[in-house]
Amino acid sequence: MDANRTSQVSDDSLAVETLNLTRRYGDLVAVSSLNMQVHRGDLFGFIGSNGAGKTTTLRILSTFLIPSEGAARVLGHDLKREADKVRHNIGYMPDFFGVYKDMEVTEYLDFFGACYKIPFKKRETIVRDILELVGLSEKRGALIGALSRGMQQRLGLARVLVHDPQLLLLDEPASGLDPRARVEVMAILQELQKMGKTIIISSHILSELQNLCNRVAIIEKGKLIYCGSVSGVTEQTGVDPVVWVEVNSETGIAVAALRQLPEVTEAEETESRIRVVMQAADTDISCIPEALVRANVKLVGLRRESVDLEDVYLQVTRGETQ
Ligand SMILES: Nc1ncnc2c1ncn2[C@@H]1O[C@H](COP(=O)(O)OP(=O)(O)O)[C@@H](O)[C@H]1O
Ligand SMILES: [Mg+2]
Repeated sequence: MDANRTSQVSDDSLAVETLNLTRRYGDLVAVSSLNMQVHRGDLFGFIGSNGAGKTTTLRILSTFLIPSEGAARVLGHDLKREADKVRHNIGYMPDFFGVYKDMEVTEYLDFFGACYKIPFKKRETIVRDILELVGLSEKRGALIGALSRGMQQRLGLARVLVHDPQLLLLDEPASGLDPRARVEVMAILQELQKMGKTIIISSHILSELQNLCNRVAIIEKGKLIYCGSVSGVTEQTGVDPVVWVEVNSETGIAVAALRQLPEVTEAEETESRIRVVMQAADTDISCIPEALVRANVKLVGLRRESVDLEDVYLQVTRGETQ
């Protein structure tokens, strides 16, 4: 694909835009004609099972691998023609990375700061702030080899932040971590998103992406199956957006009132609760308490059924993995 094509469709609100991005290893098509968009400010989940093509895609976007075909723009720069500009503005954390075990934490980060030609005085402040952010301030003088796996992973994250990149590409940053260490990494990512960074995180642990990410892409056998909002996945796959309603009595009246709402597709009593199917996943549910107040029914509980990304993932990849 002609690289100029991407300039024509470029959009400032996009951090990453790929156009028919393809990578082959011999006969194997590891990434097949990928068309994916990541918006600036996204905390973007890149989902796929082992061998789906996640690492290959992230390596291409980080300029470590050259695509066989297709093009991509990263932060407005063409991946092929402006690879240097891309490199200066991204932080790539590979799935496996070595650390210098005999180095001290501060020394390690300072070293990478020097590689990016950040002046000495400035590096001191940057390293201090980053250690604070990743919760390693108290370990600043520790030898890296003495850090726990979770701490080393957070140090890896600190390393890719030294040059203050706009976009982070993180390849399974939480894999192999215990639940607490994983939660800590996720909390840092949320903090970074608040600071305005765009973050792409690959994972196959879907439950952890569900509440973290605002948008996701699902890739299977090199092909993009879905790219969009988490709630949008349900619409594509036909999973009903359900809200559970509990009232203290007058269930029949409540059901009748809810059925009259244009926002509601279906309402029925199930096991002493009312199962309400909304028109769309993003339909405002405030119409439910309002309708119940009008009908003089006391509302006791209201809960949107969470969409289980894992179920959705299994549904959408069924055709590919069988
Ligand atoms: N250097 C390589 N040489 C040959 N095949 C590779 C190489 N790297 C990855 N692959 C193959 O490409 C496919 C995608 O791999 P990868 O991008 O690592 O997937 P994921 O990160 O989703 O597990 C797999 O089938 C893998 O075996
Ligand atoms: Mg991988």
